[in-house]
Amino acid sequence: MLKQLTHSGLPIYQNLDSLKLAVEAPHLLGGYGDKPLKRMVDLFQDSSAANLDEDVYDVYRDIRSDEDDELFKKHKFQYDITVIHQGLIGKERKKTSGHFHGWETSGKHSYPEVYEVLSGTALFVLQKSMNFDIKDPTQIVIDDLILVKAEMGQAVIVPPDYGHCSVNIGEGDMIFSNLAYQPCPVLYEAVQAHHGMAMYVGTDQEGLTFLKNKMYSKLPKAHLATPKENGDLGIKFGTPVYKAFINDPEAFNFLGHPDNYINQIMDLLEIGEEI
Ligand SMILES: [Fe+2]
Repeated sequence: MLKQLTHSGLPIYQNLDSLKLAVEAPHLLGGYGDKPLKRMVDLFQDSSAANLDEDVYDVYRDIRSDEDDELFKKHKFQYDITVIHQGLIGKERKKTSGHFHGWETSGKHSYPEVYEVLSGTALFVLQKSMNFDIKDPTQIVIDDLILVKAEMGQAVIVPPDYGHCSVNIGEGDMIFSNLAYQPCPVLYEAVQAHHGMAMYVGTDQEGLTFLKNKMYSKLPKAHLATPKENGDLGIKFGTPVYKAFINDPEAFNFLGHPDNYINQIMDLLEIGEEI
């Protein structure tokens, strides 16, 4: 059986038996990769009891309609979809590896990106660091730690300077899209050196659990947050990000040139309780 990812606004379907996605012509798919546990064992708090061949997540890269191809190329943007499967690794929720983005050409800030939840419930772990690319990655300093809970149809701008990973905290698979500036370097070292992001997210009988990662020498207070909308930045819940980009590409100028948008982007996070 196929389930359409209607919040994408695109003819993209999940096969509910194989859990793989299908992209309907004339839409194009640039690439695909799966991430079994064996390639991310060191990123979980405790994966010793889990099956190393278990699929944690799949990424479908560079999805676009044939007729939108030129627009994506002109702006150097890329639209991808990630499927984080349901389930636990140890006591921890399945998640993506986590990474930082490279610096924008001014060198003041790193590149942001847009995440949009297409199915399930997401928790995006965001950790700010201004020295994430230093030679000894164990010495990075985390200045801020925010966990953004987002529901289907909501979009979140991952702010510049924040490393990020995505956690599936709902029922079933959590599927999200990202729109990003394609030349942006993706840097995994700092997160790998710490055995994951600054917060491990798990589940017990009471609900979600949060465990600070002690591999980081010093961590700030962590806060939960929810996303807000800003039509000027193309973020309107219920309007697919893909469509928002096609209709108004200039609204997404912040993706390649974030320096003048820092405050607007940070204002999109409604900071809630401390955890
Ligand atoms: Fe990213």
